[in-house]
Amino acid sequence: MLPEFYQFHHPTKVIYGEGLVNDFAHELEELGVKNYFIVSDQVLSSLGLIEQIKTGLEEAGFTITGEFYDVPQDASVEAVESISRQATDSGAEGLIAVGGGSVIDATKAANFVFSEGGDLVADYSGASTLTKPLKPFIVIPTTAGTGSENTLIAMIYDVANKTKLAFSDKFLLPDLAVLDPVMTQSLPPGLTASTGMDALTHAVESYVGVDTSPHSEALAVAAIRHIFKYLVRATQKGDDLEARGGMLIAANMAGSSFSHSMVGCVHAMAHAVGGLTRVPHGVANAILLPHGMEYNFEVCKEKFAELAPVMGENVTGKSIDEAARGAIAAVRRLGRQLNALNAMAVRLKDAGVPEESLPAIAEAATEDGAIVYNPREVVAEEILVHLKNAY
Ligand SMILES: [Fe+2]
Repeated sequence: MLPEFYQFHHPTKVIYGEGLVNDFAHELEELGVKNYFIVSDQVLSSLGLIEQIKTGLEEAGFTITGEFYDVPQDASVEAVESISRQATDSGAEGLIAVGGGSVIDATKAANFVFSEGGDLVADYSGASTLTKPLKPFIVIPTTAGTGSENTLIAMIYDVANKTKLAFSDKFLLPDLAVLDPVMTQSLPPGLTASTGMDALTHAVESYVGVDTSPHSEALAVAAIRHIFKYLVRATQKGDDLEARGGMLIAANMAGSSFSHSMVGCVHAMAHAVGGLTRVPHGVANAILLPHGMEYNFEVCKEKFAELAPVMGENVTGKSIDEAARGAIAAVRRLGRQLNALNAMAVRLKDAGVPEESLPAIAEAATEDGAIVYNPREVVAEEILVHLKNAY
C-alpha cells in the first residue's frame, strides 16, 4: 500500500571515491566561501588525516581558520558551544566535520549558533526552528554507521540531565558529503562492527516504520544488501577498501532513509541505554536490533519476510512467519559472526549494563522521540521483557 502523502528532500551532494579527501576542493567553489573551520578528533589528527585534507584545501586557495579536536564520545552541549564560539572567533565562514557521529553531530548543531547566533538549547531544541539555510557545512565521515552526513538530525548529550537532546531541521543537512574509504581504514574492528550494526538498525527501522515511503524503502534495502555483503569483511580486514567503501555507501544510504522515515523501538531502547549507562550507541543498537524485531514481529512480519532474502536467507517455500523469522535469524547470525571476531558484544551484560537498570531503561525508552515512528506502541512492561532477553 502506498502512503497517502510523502516527500523526499535530499539536497546533500554525495561524492564517493578512494583518495577523494586529497582532491575535493573544486567541489567547494560553488559554496562561495573561502574560510573554513575544521572539527575532528585527536586520533584522526595523530594519524595525519587532517593534515592531508588541510593541504589539499590550502593548495586550492582555501584557508583553514582553526581546528577543534575535543568532541567527547557523545557530542555534548558544551562541545557544541565551544565549536561555534571558536569557529566564529577564527573568522570562519563555513564548517568542515571530519569524524564519526559525535564529531558530525556536534558540528551540525554548532552550525545553528555559528550561523544564526542565540542559544543552542533554548533557541533550537526540537524540530524545524530555522527559516533559512545555514552557513556552508561539509562532512567527511570516518566511520560507516551514523550516516549523519546525510541526515537532518543531530543528537547532543545533555550531561547534567543524562539525556540526549534531538535537533532536527532540513537546513541542518550538509551541503557536501565526501565518502572516501581510505578515511575509515584505521577504524578498529570493534567500532567497525558496532557502527555498521547501527547503520543496519537505521535501515531496518526505517523500512518498517510508520513513516516509511517507497524512496526510504529502496535506500534501506540497498543499505541492508551492502551491510550483509561487506560488514564482516570490513571488520575482519580493515584495509579491504572495497568492503570499507561498501560500508560507507551503506551507512550513507541508511542515513538518507532514516532521515526521512525515522527509527523506532530499537533506537528508543538504545538511546535509553546510552543515556543511563554510557554504552556506545552502535553497541546498544547492535545488541538490541534482533530483540526490537521480536517486539515488532506481529505487526512487521510481512516486511521482515521481504527483507529476509536481502539478508541472504533462502525463503523458497517458506511461509510469511518462517521468512520473517529468517530475517531475525540472519541479524542474530551477523551479530554472532562479529562477536566471534571479538568485535562486538551480543548481550547487554557483556556491554557493561547493570541488570538493575533495565526497568529504568524500559521507562526511558517509552519517553524517547523514536517511539512515535515505531509500528507498534512501546509499552514499558512489554519492552522490559525484551530487554531482559537481551541481557
Ligand atoms: Fe543510530
